[in-house]
Amino acid sequence: MDRISIIGGKHLNGSLPISGAKNAALPLMIASLLTPDRLTLKNVPNLADVNTLARILRNHGVDLAVDGKRAEPSPYLGETFHLTARDIVDTTAPYEMVSRMRASFWVLGPLLARCGEARVSMPGGCAIGTRPVDLHLMGLKALGAEIDIDGGNVVAKAPRGLRGTRIAFPKVSVGATHAALMAASLAKGDTVIENAAREPEIGDVAECLIKMGAKIEGVGSSTLQVQGTPRLEGAVHTVLPDRIETGTYAFAVAAAGGDVELRGARIGLLERAFAVLKQTGVTIAQTPHGVRVARNGGNLKPITIETQPFPGFPTDLQAQLMALMTRAEGTSVIRETIFENRFMHVQELARLGADIQLQGDTATVNGVKALRGAQVMATDLRASVSLVIAGLMAEGKTTINRVYHLDRGFERLEEKLSGCGAAIERLVSG
Ligand code: UD1
Repeated sequence: MDRISIIGGKHLNGSLPISGAKNAALPLMIASLLTPDRLTLKNVPNLADVNTLARILRNHGVDLAVDGKRAEPSPYLGETFHLTARDIVDTTAPYEMVSRMRASFWVLGPLLARCGEARVSMPGGCAIGTRPVDLHLMGLKALGAEIDIDGGNVVAKAPRGLRGTRIAFPKVSVGATHAALMAASLAKGDTVIENAAREPEIGDVAECLIKMGAKIEGVGSSTLQVQGTPRLEGAVHTVLPDRIETGTYAFAVAAAGGDVELRGARIGLLERAFAVLKQTGVTIAQTPHGVRVARNGGNLKPITIETQPFPGFPTDLQAQLMALMTRAEGTSVIRETIFENRFMHVQELARLGADIQLQGDTATVNGVKALRGAQVMATDLRASVSLVIAGLMAEGKTTINRVYHLDRGFERLEEKLSGCGAAIERLVSG
């Protein structure tokens, strides 16, 4: 298994490109199941999760052609995927495939809406709590689906098609909102989705569905109105920039010190996280090509914060913020309200000398004078990148094991960071 080795203490300077958003690319790829026509997606990041989903979609009969694999164009614009689900040959998504990545469960809604049936294994993915699917099933049931659980699979049927309805989610869920939105787009009649997630990736998918002929109002708000249509068409859509990757590199610059332009990043996708960074003493500025993040000397100020659905502080940046705060001048308090058990990075950060106390859903981080490099273990996608941030600050060498977690969500991470002066390399195991 590959490892990543970092020698800490180097400043980051220059610029690096932000890739297309993983959390938009995945549901956009899944949206191809809704139409027999070609859906072209530009700026798709080259990630393990994208490749896993591509395999799952091919299994359903989606024809996928990729261009953009030629030698690096300048500026780097990701890959272009052409997805055509002319005939869906199999409405089953088996355990071997779905267990690798939770978002692959999201094929359930579109398969059901298009084919009237689907059989999808209960999901896997990062081990960050129980992560149930009750809200996904609630939305589909409200749209008229009959749902059974059989041998670890969700079996959904709607032989007479789905019918528009009112879905009032008791809790905000990104995945359940995607599922309801896609299924309602092909249902008969009107659907209102209340307490919908407002994450920008939902808006990106909604914009693409509208290009495909869906009638959706309220994009960006917590109430989505969908007028069902019997057929969706092909479209061309560009995946929005990855706000979690943007935030991660912004935290990395804050940690290492220096001055970096994040090319293609948009401040508007990440206002809360940038506000937090400013509070810690980091300079953030919009540039013609992206966002500039700088910290030149000066101590980091501590922060008290809790994670919240968008537009709140994202749970997907909680681990990165915690890594940064290990070196703040004072005590930070970070509360995780979205996922229980999303603190597996704490014990690894402690190996580098961090002083963190955990109580229930709250971590108290006492800033220390220095972190020292050590061997650490990546436990999930976002936790693993928090170890990279800590490694950039630590004295000496940090080696991160099990970096396949990183490859699920960060494209060319070592290349992007070393291009800005970080001493980081991948140790490829034979
Ligand atoms: C998505 C993101 C993930 C991010 C998360 C929260 C993708 C591919 N993944 O995950 O990176 O961390 O949003 O911003 O976009 N829940 C239920 N029942 C359900 C579904 C969810 O109780 O049926 C709970 C979850 O356990 C969690 C909360 O709702 O406590 C939010 O989860 P959700 O927004 O659904 O996360 P994902 O869509 O899986």
